[in-house]
Amino acid sequence: MLHPLRGAIQTGDATVRLVPTTPFTDQKPGTSGLRKKVGVFQQPHYAENFIQSVFDVVAAPAGATLVIGGDGRYHNRTVIQTAIRMAAANGFGRVLVGRGGILSTPAASNLIRARGAFGGLILSASHNPGGPHGDFGIKYNVSNGGPAPEKITDAIFARTKAITEYRLAESPDLDLDGRGSLEVEGMTVEIVDPVEDYAAAMEQLFDFGAIRALIASGFRLRFDAMHAVTGPYAHEILENRLGAPKGTVVHGTPSEDFGGHHPDPNLVHARALYEEMMAPDAPDFGAASDGDGDRNLIIGKGLFVTPSDSLAALAANAHLAPGYAAGLKGIARSMPTSQAADCVAEALGIGCYETPTGWKFFGNLLDAGMATICGEESAGTGSDHVREKDGLWAVLLWLNILAVRKIPVAELMRDHWARYGRNYYARHDYEGVASEGAEALMAGLRGKLEGLPGSHVEGLVVAAADDFAYTDPTDQSISRNQGVRILFEGGSRIVFRLSGTGTEGATLRVYLERYEPADGALDLVTGEALAPLVAAAEAIAGISGHTGRNEPDVIT
Ligand code: G6P
Ligand code: ZN
Repeated sequence: MLHPLRGAIQTGDATVRLVPTTPFTDQKPGTSGLRKKVGVFQQPHYAENFIQSVFDVVAAPAGATLVIGGDGRYHNRTVIQTAIRMAAANGFGRVLVGRGGILSTPAASNLIRARGAFGGLILSASHNPGGPHGDFGIKYNVSNGGPAPEKITDAIFARTKAITEYRLAESPDLDLDGRGSLEVEGMTVEIVDPVEDYAAAMEQLFDFGAIRALIASGFRLRFDAMHAVTGPYAHEILENRLGAPKGTVVHGTPSEDFGGHHPDPNLVHARALYEEMMAPDAPDFGAASDGDGDRNLIIGKGLFVTPSDSLAALAANAHLAPGYAAGLKGIARSMPTSQAADCVAEALGIGCYETPTGWKFFGNLLDAGMATICGEESAGTGSDHVREKDGLWAVLLWLNILAVRKIPVAELMRDHWARYGRNYYARHDYEGVASEGAEALMAGLRGKLEGLPGSHVEGLVVAAADDFAYTDPTDQSISRNQGVRILFEGGSRIVFRLSGTGTEGATLRVYLERYEPADGALDLVTGEALAPLVAAAEAIAGISGHTGRNEPDVIT
């Protein structure tokens, strides 16, 4: 499918082709890299253009090391072969690739850090469906192991609009399932065990002996890998190293289309896990992770723990795990994530940072030692051990805490609310709506921000309203238009923003939060507790008028 050879240059013993190409106009990285339908990525030169643009912008020194791996979805192996050829042609000295093309996103981040790599290409569309009609994605991570910051992704986008050629080494496909090292045109390709380094890192952070004892005492857990990348990690760590019985991990073999399911660990797509955890004979602890292993869903026996509450509970108890025994330096959360973590940070007397949506915004805070634990409402939690969110890490921290405190999840959460108050929380998603309607809704909101403070809506009083802008405290970079916040008296809140990860139309996200202080009503049903906020959101934004929908598609 390649254009005719324009030129061939010799670098050492490598034969490098310079392949002429023309720009694509749609290669702007979103919240988490470039994410498109598989068919878009299958266009001739599409992946190549993007990868070359990355290499052009990051300008790795000759001989640098690059990590490559993905979540095993359809098209993963094809792009990995291409990326290896292009890395060889662009002067990299070594590529570390996960066996079978597999690396979970946190394991890739760990590998970049542990092996001192210059950067990494992570091939994933996270929790989006896979298969020939599903989604694919490419993300570049820098040497701290985290996603490239906006100034780099902006430069990559600019480069994609100007690119005229890419570099490709002549070489046959590699056996990605083998062992050891191979040479590609003068570059070493090391096939690494995807689990080994990651599992070793987890053993450093957590008290595996205590968790093993908890499980041996009869504590039952269930982990749903959703046919995605965490299967091999969970089998090795939970079953082989921590002694959970075989069968604890379900859907543990990665498949190219995730078994036809949507690998998103939420109450809709992990419904079977939820139902198992609500049944009378439920296990003590249930968890799931997403396509690329960076998200987590935590459900105790009879109680779903919202991601925002999970962040707060983990932060409040992290010192019980060896890796965090010295305490936390600070906590960071994305703006739409509930304010539950803020209450913990205040009680601990540590910093609390509110960033735009997107894990990349935590990188600087972690690098600067300002935050130790970070989290997002979108089921992401992680710490300074890597520079990505980390699904299994969250599961292991929960297990470590439960092994020390020896109480059920539901009791731990009730205890937490009784101390800090409760932030009832839900996110309503309107998926695949027409972009014009979604944009008009946001524009309408922005237009009325000034007049909102002091107004009464559905029994609530607006205390403040703004369009969230973030100034990074480490480099003073500013990110504007990150979502509309309506803050009510008493600490409740509604946030409106458009998703940056969708691949079809627009997805409107409405984040609803009601705060009840420690002496308030802590045992309400979430849907009922939030009903006034749902009504207020409709009254303020005119959701049904703008989207043509009377109900959200997904409530998480
Ligand atoms: C990805 C990112 C997260 C982000 C999430 C939702 O998982 O890594 O940082 O919170 O997408 O983003 P969206 O723009 O769709 O709300
Ligand atoms: Zn993910």
